[in-house]
Amino acid sequence: MSDFFSVVEKRNSVRKYSDKPLSDDICRKLVEAGLRAPTAINKQEIHFTVVKKDNPVQAEIQNDLNPNAQNSFFYNAPVTIYLSGDENFKWSAVDAGIAVQSIHLAATALGLGSVVLGCMKDVLSGEKKEEYAKKLAFPEGYVYQIAIAVGYAEATKEQHTFDFDKNVSVI
Ligand SMILES: Cc1cc2nc3c(=O)[nH]c(=O)nc-3n(C[C@H](O)[C@H](O)[C@H](O)COP(=O)(O)O)c2cc1C
Repeated sequence: MSDFFSVVEKRNSVRKYSDKPLSDDICRKLVEAGLRAPTAINKQEIHFTVVKKDNPVQAEIQNDLNPNAQNSFFYNAPVTIYLSGDENFKWSAVDAGIAVQSIHLAATALGLGSVVLGCMKDVLSGEKKEEYAKKLAFPEGYVYQIAIAVGYAEATKEQHTFDFDKNVSVI
């Protein structure tokens, strides 16, 4: 278990994974990190769908995103977790964003790599929205909010730099 600030400083987006699968225990730990995240009025509405890489829905999404893509939009990660939220609750996007970051940090703390995935938003919200909602086991009235691919990192990259003075005002 790592100290919180070293996890925050270590976190980055991983875009290359080994073939090693994630155990059910680890998947559960990751989802629990999401479930522990705060939600507006403690609604706890975010739904988590854990999808293994050989599930045919992954290939379908990849194909709908770009049938000619040379690379996997999931970077061949063994697991992708989809977060869906109540279409009619105004805080679902924020709640899902907070929950996905908790999973991202939990993955880092566990020595795993992960990357937040927004790229499938148009495909999952487009004409096949209902079909995908069923295939991804979203509850009734729920829509895709965000996803995160997780696995054992096979490549790392530098942490991004930032400009404190540009992005922060202290008034
Ligand atoms: C809402 C959101 C959507 C993102 N979608 C994708 C994506 O579809 N594919 C991808 O490779 N990275 C995606 N990322 C990761 C960002 O590209 C990444 O966080 C950014 O380049 C900074 O790099 P770092 O996370 O390594 O610091 C997304 C990040 C966020 C917050």
